[in-house]
Amino acid sequence: MNPMCAAPSVTRTAAPGLPHLPPLARNPKVRAAIDQILAELTREQSSLTGAIPGDPNKAAAYAAWMSRNNELRGRPTIYPYVGAGFGNGPLVQLADGSVKWDMLSGIGVHMFGHSDRRMVEAALESALSDVCQQGHLQHNADVLAVSEILVAEASRVSRLRHCFVTNSGCMANENALKICQQKTQGAPRVIAFNDCFMGRSTTMSQIGDTAAYRQGLTQNILVDYMPFYDPALGERSTEATVAALKAVIARYPKQHSCFVMEIVQGEGGFNVAPHEFLVEIMQVCKDAGIPIWIDEIQSFGRTESMFAFETLGVGAYVDVVTVGKLTQVCACLFTPEFNPGAGLLAGTFSSTTSAYHIGRRTLEILRDGDYYGPAGRIAKLHQAFRTCAEDLVRRRPEFFPAVIDAHGRAMPRVIGGIGAMMRLTPLGGNKERLGALTKVLFEDGVITLTCGHGPYHLRFLPPIGVMDPAQFQPVFAILEKSLERLG
Ligand SMILES: Cc1ncc(COP(=O)(O)O)c(C=O)c1O
Repeated sequence: MNPMCAAPSVTRTAAPGLPHLPPLARNPKVRAAIDQILAELTREQSSLTGAIPGDPNKAAAYAAWMSRNNELRGRPTIYPYVGAGFGNGPLVQLADGSVKWDMLSGIGVHMFGHSDRRMVEAALESALSDVCQQGHLQHNADVLAVSEILVAEASRVSRLRHCFVTNSGCMANENALKICQQKTQGAPRVIAFNDCFMGRSTTMSQIGDTAAYRQGLTQNILVDYMPFYDPALGERSTEATVAALKAVIARYPKQHSCFVMEIVQGEGGFNVAPHEFLVEIMQVCKDAGIPIWIDEIQSFGRTESMFAFETLGVGAYVDVVTVGKLTQVCACLFTPEFNPGAGLLAGTFSSTTSAYHIGRRTLEILRDGDYYGPAGRIAKLHQAFRTCAEDLVRRRPEFFPAVIDAHGRAMPRVIGGIGAMMRLTPLGGNKERLGALTKVLFEDGVITLTCGHGPYHLRFLPPIGVMDPAQFQPVFAILEKSLERLG
């Protein structure tokens, strides 16, 4: 067994006074059947130990599926990915028989990688529940248990006390925006950081700072963009953003419903802002009565505390926080002062029963395991990534030419990110070359994606619950081969 899986014991969180499993999942005969399935799973998984190419006999059928898939979607996917529905931790098997290192985890969703025994167990238990979807009007105890853990963890270091669950990050963000707007009597403007990403609804596509994502959309939300922290400028970066923020507040007094911020930017390039920068701008917002909403949909769980706002020490400032991805169920958390009026938040269903069971298990393991702190599992993974990346940069400088940033300056570092949001910038951060690299890497057996808006970076969101730090070695061996092959 992967030693990283030998985590400390985990306490099942029940909604207070309610059982955490459906009655059938407590039946001894059913339990024995579940145990048997899990034993078979473990036996079959042992055959997946590293990346392997696809079976040539399956290549034609696989190509036909992919082209039909692209036809139905009306556009090609970035990679020819059709999963077989099976894997072993960070290794995923595709329908062509190939096995790949999944360093993307569904863009940060599959914290336990593929076919994790604990997650399969939770999914089997959820299948014994009476219904597939949980609603806001009628729901089972799992919904309360997930909200309970999120609020308990958040409230240790912030004033967040309420949790409204939804089935996508984007919808959690829509709810957060509604809450902020209602609190500010419909203030029409939003403040956001340059290069932010917030999801794909019409409103979130407009606030998110990528031109292509709002191309052709009616622009009906007023956004004032602020520069994110620039490490090359240090304290001057803080001064510049504070000055820009004060200017926009003076220009539009009482017109802002919120400052929404990813304090670790995801799609924008795994950019990290230090505590000092954040508290200065948050204090300006507080002084002006502008609500602070932190979008942790990508960063949740991945820094050295469960919430990035705890890692960066800004819990006291937050009014609203959104989480998603590895939580399986998405949520908007808010303080008592931001609890909106009746009728503002609702929806037919909030997520599937299996998402709640798996989300609850995930949160319990994160809470009770050894993930956090400077010596935690996430810090160790980050260090292992850096060690492998530094070795590659030192040995193969030809793959790491100077990276010129948006201001025409050479970036001092080609390795970056925080915790389990890791980035590497080969090929000068060139968009086309990095796009081509991710495709070659996919063929060679490693799944990644790019991030950033120029320069571009190779983005790693490894499955933190099952990745052994030593597994970065085969991943980097493939990366080196792919860089050679790309030429
Ligand atoms: C920071 C951030 N906010 C919001 C979203 C949207 O979440 P979803 O794709 O689940 O709607 C994402 C997704 O990548 C994200 O990274």
